[in-house]
Order: sequence, then structure tokens, then C-alpha cells
Amino acid sequence: MNRKEFLSMLGIGAAAIAGAYCFGGCKSNDSTSAPPSGVDFTLDLSDPANSALKANGGYIYKNGIIIARTVNGAYVAVSLVCTHQGSTVYYDPGGNRFHCPAHGSNFATDGSVINGPAGSPLAKYNTALSGTSLRVYS
Ligand code: FES
Repeated sequence: MNRKEFLSMLGIGAAAIAGAYCFGGCKSNDSTSAPPSGVDFTLDLSDPANSALKANGGYIYKNGIIIARTVNGAYVAVSLVCTHQGSTVYYDPGGNRFHCPAHGSNFATDGSVINGPAGSPLAKYNTALSGTSLRVYS
């Protein structure tokens, strides 16, 4: 008995197998919830909770946003929700980019898509450093 005969015997066709691949959670592309809007908060960089931002390559999550200190020392902030299917991105200092581990999308530090499957950019937020206070705002 070959593979086709075996699947036929089980009553399983190619469409069923394809459907099973996405069983339990595939969504269409770019169907995530809206990124945070009206953003305006300040991080105290002297607070131990924000200590990851003291070194280049560090990042934290706050209020639906990932705030990173890039390998070049710049503070950047984008929505933490991948625009493909909603997984959480992280900052990858090796590539100086945001990476989604779910399906491999990469985003530049300005949120633009480097490669998919995501087809839409991450929402970008402004940052302003004053002393040890880092403001993140729309
Ligand atoms: S959820 Fe699929 S690449 Fe991010």
C-alpha cells in the first residue's frame, strides 16, 4: 500500500492534512489587534526594573511596547505585537532588529518589515531621553 492509498483508506485527503497543519490557531496574515495608541509614559532608567536599558542591546516590555537600547546606543520603541499573527517580538542585537520567533519575521529598528511573513510594519513610537528619564510617546 502506498501513501495515497493509505490516506485514502483513512479518509484523509490533502486538504484535510493542510487543514490539520493550522489546527488550533492559524489566522490570516496581518490580522492582529491594533497597536497601542495615545502612548505617553516615562521610564526611570535608574529603577532596577528598567536596568536592561542601561546596556546596548537590552530591551524591556511595557504597556504593549518593546523599548530597546540598540547596539548603537539609541533608544527605540515599537509595538511588541508581530503584525503577522500576534506573537511577541524581541530585540536581536546581533542583527540590530526586532525578531518574531513564531515564523521568523524581522523588523528594522524603525518597525519596517525586513522580511515576512509579516507584511505590515510594527507601530513605532517616539523616545526622548532627559537625564535618567526616558519618555515613550506617540
Ligand atoms: S507571528 Fe508569524 S512571524 Fe510573527
